[in-house]
Amino acid sequence: MVEEIGKTAEEMGKEQRQIAVSEFFEKNRHLLGYDNPTKALLTVVKELVDNSLDAAEEARILPRIWVEVKPNGPDRFRVMIKDNGPGLVDKQIPLALGKLLYGSKFFRLRQSRGQQGIGGSGAILYSQLTTGKPTTLISSTGNKKTSHYEMMIDVKKNEPEIISHQILEDGREWHGLKVEMEIEGRYIESRQGIPEYIKQVAIGNPFAEIVFEGPNGKMEFPRAVNELPPIPKEIMPHPHGVELGILRRMMKSTKSRTIASFMTNDFSRIGSGTANEICKLAGIDPKISPGRLEVEDTEKLFKAMQKVKLVRPPTDCLSPLGEEMMVKGLKKELYAEFFAAVTRPPEVYRGNPFQIECAIAFGGQLPADQPIKVVRLSNRVPLIYQEGDCAITKAISGTDWKRYGLQQSGRSIPVGPAVIMVHIVSVWVPFLSESKQAVAAYPDIMKEIKLSLQELGRNLQHHVAGKRKMEMQQRRKEIFDRYLPEVANAVGKLTNKPAEPILNKLRSIIKKNTEVIVDDRSKEEVGNAG
Ligand SMILES: Nc1ncnc2c1ncn2[C@@H]1O[C@H](COP(=O)(O)OP(=O)(O)O)[C@@H](O)[C@H]1O
Ligand SMILES: [Mg+2]
Repeated sequence: MVEEIGKTAEEMGKEQRQIAVSEFFEKNRHLLGYDNPTKALLTVVKELVDNSLDAAEEARILPRIWVEVKPNGPDRFRVMIKDNGPGLVDKQIPLALGKLLYGSKFFRLRQSRGQQGIGGSGAILYSQLTTGKPTTLISSTGNKKTSHYEMMIDVKKNEPEIISHQILEDGREWHGLKVEMEIEGRYIESRQGIPEYIKQVAIGNPFAEIVFEGPNGKMEFPRAVNELPPIPKEIMPHPHGVELGILRRMMKSTKSRTIASFMTNDFSRIGSGTANEICKLAGIDPKISPGRLEVEDTEKLFKAMQKVKLVRPPTDCLSPLGEEMMVKGLKKELYAEFFAAVTRPPEVYRGNPFQIECAIAFGGQLPADQPIKVVRLSNRVPLIYQEGDCAITKAISGTDWKRYGLQQSGRSIPVGPAVIMVHIVSVWVPFLSESKQAVAAYPDIMKEIKLSLQELGRNLQHHVAGKRKMEMQQRRKEIFDRYLPEVANAVGKLTNKPAEPILNKLRSIIKKNTEVIVDDRSKEEVGNAG
């Protein structure tokens, strides 16, 4: 008999070591959206376009973005994204894009597309993983010098590995960032493909100009509005939105000297009166230094913070598209006969401000016999995958569309000639995973989406009812037209007068009476997509 000898704790201990975050994502690339070649190609384009839009908006520049996807061997593509944004200063380039979990957006509560600092670097990681090649980064801040880098990521250290670097004094006027990389991928043109994605970006960002050159030719998406939405303000976390662990970490790193000042400086909606009230409730001296608070006291403080009544977080940190811009975005890309939009007032989930808005394009050339197309946007970024898991899809199928003039069997996506767009705007969008494709169905969020859809539905129903009335009126008019000559003849004979003037008179009466019925709203909202 062979005796099995287990490992000792010491032996097991020797096997333990730290995992670099890049190594983790290299193994778990599906978490970043790189689980299959089709999705991977889209994710690379999406992450880089997100960054370009974020940077341009923050610098208050009307974005112009070039996207190129060119085949380079079987299942291989060369992807190039270039923008007219502020660019990056030379020494920031390797750090910003050659290190995972490094970025400018994680530490602040502000509405933006990027959150975690793994979008751009994640794309570079995927490129080197599938092709072994470095990524080329070219950037200028508009100082007539251009930085050129060839870069990879040292996965074990999660550090940039610079292959080549030079600064050219080329006197060029351009500012922005150009990223070029080779990746393994698959190109499709159907629903989850890049052209559809870029079209949705154009709808959700009508102030951006985008040129896409794909394997099958060039597509141009001109801008429809010449101004950016207002810049969203940065806010401090709301006490009702933080978790105990986060509170402890904040207390360790704060610059505030006392608990009272920590609460008023590092949170929104706590004044000195409230700070003292919280301390009293927790039985803590407000003058004590935050770093010196015991674990149990932190917990007491946390509980007291949740207990006090506070004003909701400020919501001027949100920048929705607004009803007019949403309609302009849809009109520019879709041929439909009716457009409507609803922007709800801001709300709060777990202490995080958010806002829901939605819009519809209906009729015209949209296919009538298929499920409607759903455009999901979060902070102006289209969400393409994980449709079924997303709060937006759930809210749409959970709404009774039959009342509003669309077909629907049970609780499912309705059928009809419509595109419905739902936009969630927040300083922190609760995504279901790092690949940021589906919004979590928090009850507060679900409720707002449903309310916005119901309001949109009522607009739609008004239009559909008006249209039906018009059609009925038209049919009546046709019947009259058919019988009018006979009626005029008969009246002429009876009154001994010529039939012609009677016919003309009757015709003008009918015309007048059927015209008034035409729904002015629908007339004015007929789209002229270009
Ligand atoms: N096109 C760009 N123009 C200017 N700065 C950029 C651009 N792309 C990325 N950056 C900078 O690099 C950082 C890292 O980007 P990324 O890895 O995508 O993370 P995130 O977008 O989540 O912050 C950004 O926070 C930003 O500061
Ligand atoms: Mg990003």
